[in-house]
Amino acid sequence: MMRTAVTEMFGIDLPIFAFSHCRDVVVEASRAGGMGILGAAFLTPDELEVSLKWIDDHVEGKPYGVDVVFPGTFAELPSEPDPDEVLPREYRQFVSRLVDQADIPPLPAGDAAAFVKEHAHKMNMTPSESEKALEISLRHPVKFVVGALGVPPKHVIDAVHARGIKVGALVGSVRHALKQRDAGTDVLIAQGNEAGGHVGPISSLVLWPQIVDAVAPMPVLAAGGIGRGRQFAAAMTLGAAGIWCGSIWLGARESELNADMKEQLFRANSEDAVVSRALTGKPCRILKSAYTNAWDGAGAPKPLTFPLQSILAGEPLRRAERARRLDYWTYAIGQIVGDMKSETTVRQIFADLLTEYVETIEHVGALTAEPE
Ligand SMILES: Cc1cc2nc3c(=O)[nH]c(=O)nc-3n(C[C@H](O)[C@H](O)[C@H](O)COP(=O)(O)O)c2cc1C
Repeated sequence: MMRTAVTEMFGIDLPIFAFSHCRDVVVEASRAGGMGILGAAFLTPDELEVSLKWIDDHVEGKPYGVDVVFPGTFAELPSEPDPDEVLPREYRQFVSRLVDQADIPPLPAGDAAAFVKEHAHKMNMTPSESEKALEISLRHPVKFVVGALGVPPKHVIDAVHARGIKVGALVGSVRHALKQRDAGTDVLIAQGNEAGGHVGPISSLVLWPQIVDAVAPMPVLAAGGIGRGRQFAAAMTLGAAGIWCGSIWLGARESELNADMKEQLFRANSEDAVVSRALTGKPCRILKSAYTNAWDGAGAPKPLTFPLQSILAGEPLRRAERARRLDYWTYAIGQIVGDMKSETTVRQIFADLLTEYVETIEHVGALTAEPE
């Protein structure tokens, strides 16, 4: 058990926040004494409702949160965009040619149209879609609502606060941190460039203390490159009130990835987690693959605006996954991937983080101890 501003705020035993798109990870993290945060971004409203209900039924009353993307810049699309209409033809041809040339078979005719449409709906992360996700979330006992990619509108923050729920935001610079603080958020997640997913250019080691100092006494969670206890200890030493991890859970038994995908991650080194616009149109740290390389190649088109580029990636990546051609697959992943070498469990990750954290704090304490 540890005591920090966020363990007090949420009534949790450990200041470990587990971001995941997988409800099983969320439940396990909350049951382990930390707090699971469900990423609502890739879920349709119906799927979000089902996932939250499932979490409520399994989390044993422990606190959990929801993460909703509020993009600052985006392409405004109809609620259920038709990929044929919203994606430029030459872009569709570019990605189809890429997987065709690798002899990756097309999706079965019947499945393809339905998959592409549903994927487009899920990737349509515009503020109005995010507000729908939030409305659904507020029907459940969530304790923490976190916004990513921009400042949530004031009425959203007010609606969350009116229910006694805390608001958090992911930030990658002091400028964004101050904006979020002034908008009324309660907790900031300072996410360094090592992280999986959308990133800014500043590394965690530099960013965390800058943000801690800029917004003190507001609690700050450290994110980006944390997968082991030494990094946990470093984050707390630099002034964080807790840690927020995303990549490390992907190697857990409970994660959303299948065995092939996990193996692909376990083979990767830290330098294989590259920052690219290939997946979403925004700078995003993802697993390097033939798909990401193609977007860096001569003659590749300039990536589309968010979320059109995410919609475009749906079909080729699904084809690669289905054909078990993981060399063409990609997924958001941080530099910590280089330390992820075999399947584990959420519980084991918690245990490992804590064991190494304690060893590290003892080791560092001993450096300054008076000689006996
Ligand atoms: C697969 C994956 C998907 C992510 N999706 C989101 C998201 O939808 N919303 C969000 O706020 N952060 C997202 N992130 C970022 C995480 O919230 C977190 O800040 C980041 O993973 C921390 O760095 P780490 O990957 O080194 O642990 C994602 C990260 C990963 C690895």
